[in-house]
This record gives sequence, C-alpha cells and structure tokens, in this order.
Amino acid sequence: RSKRPAGAPDRKLARPVTKIGVVGAGLMASQLALLFARQLKVPVVMTDIDQARVDKGVAYVHAEVDKLLDKKRIKADAANRTKALVTGSVSKDAFADADFVIEAVFEELHVKKQVFAEVEAIVSAECILATNTSSLSVTAMAEELQYPERLVGFHFFNPVAVMPLLEIVRAPRTDDAVLATAFELAKGLKKTAVLVKDAAAFVVNRILLRLMGEVIAAFDEGTPAEVADSALRPMGLPMSPFALSAMVGLPVAQHVQESLHAAFGERFAVSQNLQKLIDNGVKSLWVPGPDGTPVIPAETLAV
Ligand code: 3HC
Repeated sequence: RSKRPAGAPDRKLARPVTKIGVVGAGLMASQLALLFARQLKVPVVMTDIDQARVDKGVAYVHAEVDKLLDKKRIKADAANRTKALVTGSVSKDAFADADFVIEAVFEELHVKKQVFAEVEAIVSAECILATNTSSLSVTAMAEELQYPERLVGFHFFNPVAVMPLLEIVRAPRTDDAVLATAFELAKGLKKTAVLVKDAAAFVVNRILLRLMGEVIAAFDEGTPAEVADSALRPMGLPMSPFALSAMVGLPVAQHVQESLHAAFGERFAVSQNLQKLIDNGVKSLWVPGPDGTPVIPAETLAV
C-alpha cells in the first residue's frame, strides 16, 4: 500500500471528480486538459475569451495526441477517447456540471479573482476551484469567494506531460475534503504531489528563481549572456537557465521574479535588463539553433 504524502488528509474524505473545467486555452491550459483527459478519463472542457483561442487549445490537444500515437505511446482507442473527452467553449456555462475547475489564465491577481467570481456564479456549491498560479497568493485569491474553503493551489511544471512534480497549496481556509480530493487527483494523474504553504512562489519557483536570477544578474553586470548560460550547462542541469526561461516564457519568468521581489525584497532583485528586453518585444533569451545548439538572439546581446 502506498504511503499517504506528508500532510495529506485522509483519502476517504476525497470527493469523486467526473467532469473538469479548465479556464483558459493557452499552452499551459491545453497541456492540463490533455493530461486530465488522458490520465483521468473524464470529460474536460476548456474555455477562453474567443472561439479562435478555444479552437487553438483543442487543436493543440489533438496534435499532441497524434504525436503520442506516432510514437506508439498511446493505443488508437485511447487516443480517440482522449480527443473526444476534450471540448472547448467560449462560455463558462459549460462548467455548470463540473466538480473541479482549474484556472490557468494570465498571471495577475485581479484577473484570477475576476475569473473565480464568474466561475462561482455558475458552478455548484460543492465544485472545487483550483489555481495553477506560479507565484500569486492563493489566500488573496480566495478572499472574495463565496466559499473560500473550496480553493486550492494546484501548481504544475512545464512541460506538464513529463515533469513529475505537483505543488498542492493549502491556503489557511482550504477544506480537508478539497485537499484530499486534490491529492487523489494527483495520484490519478501519476504526479508526485507535495503539500506546500501559501508563500510567494511556494517552494520550487523560489529555488529556481534564485538560480535564474543570479544568471540574469551576472548578465546585468556585464557577463555576456552566452557565457553566463553556457557556464552552467555542464553542471548537469537538464536545461540551461536561459533555455528554461524560453520554455516558461519571459513575461511569466518576470512575473514570478516580481512576486518574489515584492515578498522578499533584495533577496530576489528585479532585473532592469529583463524588463528592457520584454519592453523591446524580446520573447526569449535563448532559441534553439539549427542543430539544436542554443543561440542567444542578437537583440538579447544588444541591451
Ligand atoms: N510536451 C510533451 N512532451 C515533451 C515535451 C513537451 N513540451 N518536451 C519534451 N517532452 C517529452 C519528449 O517527447 C520525450 O518523450 P519520449 O521519451 O516519449 O519521446 C521526453 O519528454 C524527453 O524529451 P527529450 O528526450 O526531447 O529531451 P530531454 O531528455 O532533454 O528532456 C525535459 C526534456 C524533460 C523538458 C528536460 O529538459 C527537463 O527536465 N528540463 C527542465 C524542465 C524544468 O525545469 N521545468 C520547470 C520549469 S518552471 C515551471 O514550469 C514553473 C512555472 O510556474 C513557471
């Protein structure tokens, strides 16, 4: 019998989850929809602000399933079932009969609060609400909810399909049944769940941002970006810090850095160069070259 993860409530408290809602149809949201449908085998509906975004999210799921099929990682019937389980809608009314709704929208507290207010007006009183926030306060998100005890942090890592970790965030009012359900879902998703406190950027992003922050600080101080990045590559990391920031996305990385700076001050300095790059429209500090070798775009070096 598998051991209950540290801090997880009694699994007998867990509620069944038969339909999942995902707010957002961007890259993170689409990766979540795919994982839920494939592993939990329940209907998953994604919503976004317009039909084009919704269609793009569903198309992503279908394309990823096709890739798995090509690699013989999924059987044809499971592939068809997974595709059929994922649908999209521009209306949150589609969440009316969901028991678990997770948001993966823009990383701004007021946006997340607005989303949850809209969702709460539609779902049942028992429906669990979850946030995939990287760094914002789950407690603050719960403040204006009608039932704050139903909110839990459910923080995945990129790429969702392969990263085994899931941070489950307990806010002071999170109900034990909600937490127990979150742990049962994590098990069904075959993720390793850890219970973390609701602190800025939880645990993993704090540690990761120390590493990335120091590399960017070295760059700010005049060390060429390529030198800072390549110096770390032979240290056995699966990805160099700039490659990681490219995958996560510079604006997301910067938001996490700002949350950490607001919470912990100079322990997490905000890079002026990073802001300048984002203002100049630079999407990535690193792009894969033709042979897969990382190349730092010229505009990155021109700061
Ligand atoms: N989607 C789906 N599957 C993917 C994928 C993706 N984006 N990227 C890689 N994979 C799969 C590949 O298809 C391959 O599967 P296969 O064995 O079935 O063919 C498997 O992962 C291994 O991929 P590769 O052989 O191409 O490459 P690597 O061995 O280098 O592994 C990696 C890729 C797992 C992404 C590895 O580089 C890694 O662990 N990188 C670090 C990732 C990390 O630190 N993520 C955390 C980011 S922080 C975050 O997300 C928090 C947020 O709040 C900001």
